[in-house]
Amino acid sequence: MAQFKLPANSVIGKGKTYYAAAGAKKIKHFKIYRWDPDSGENPRLDTYEVDLAACGPMVLDALLKIKNEIDPTLTFRRSCREGVCGSCAMNIDGTNTLACTKAIDDISGDVKIYPLPHMSVVKDLVPDLTHFYAQYASIKPWLQSVSPPPERERLQSKEDRAKLDGLYECILCACCSTSCPSYWWNSERYLGPSILLQAYRWIVDSRDEFTGERLDNLEDPFRLYRCHTIMNCTKTCPKSLNPAKAIAEIKKMMVERR
Ligand code: SF4
Ligand code: SF4
Ligand code: FES
Repeated sequence: MAQFKLPANSVIGKGKTYYAAAGAKKIKHFKIYRWDPDSGENPRLDTYEVDLAACGPMVLDALLKIKNEIDPTLTFRRSCREGVCGSCAMNIDGTNTLACTKAIDDISGDVKIYPLPHMSVVKDLVPDLTHFYAQYASIKPWLQSVSPPPERERLQSKEDRAKLDGLYECILCACCSTSCPSYWWNSERYLGPSILLQAYRWIVDSRDEFTGERLDNLEDPFRLYRCHTIMNCTKTCPKSLNPAKAIAEIKKMMVERR
């Protein structure tokens, strides 16, 4: 039987434990992936005892408490703290989600936190999203038109506007793409669920006049057709969107235009 092993320098070692101060009333253990490229050391899993009696309700609150009060070297991204910016996406309790909207009370036992899977790690919980953003730029995520611009705004019927529901809410957090096995193995060429949902958002926008060109750009065995309807993307989306459906709609349009 084939055996797969991590490269020696990727094996996660036992990390440090930071104990709560005496008098802590409600201790929860947070086990957090740590890796510092400048140290030359392997990644490790540090354990932090956090007193939930003196902490906000969300996982991001605990991360901020750890950074502010226990270990200032812990590195992660965050901005809005209300599920809007997408920057705090990470793997929590085995699922890709947003630290700011994930309630600590919803996790039984220790809280295990890793960076988004199958991405290069910049440091600790920060993934390298350079390629992801380049893929986003490749679908030209802006309105394209050849008609002369109107005097005021470009109008849209209520029905056409409704076609963007379930698409415009995407915050590009990458939780879906980094949960997709096809994206894990083919991310150099497959666009992945997040970028394809964004592509569909422009394809169905009634004001856009480049639908054909947009479909041409996706007509490729890898960019679109690596989706095998595994549905991890839809299951994990913290905004309850359905990227798999958007991908299916693009495939349908490809067939209909032939
Ligand atoms: S579809 Fe959902 S999981 Fe994927 S990038 Fe958008 S908000 Fe994040
Ligand atoms: S449905 Fe497609 S995009 Fe979503 S996880 Fe499965 S293969 Fe990936
Ligand atoms: S901090 Fe913005 S989505 Fe979590």
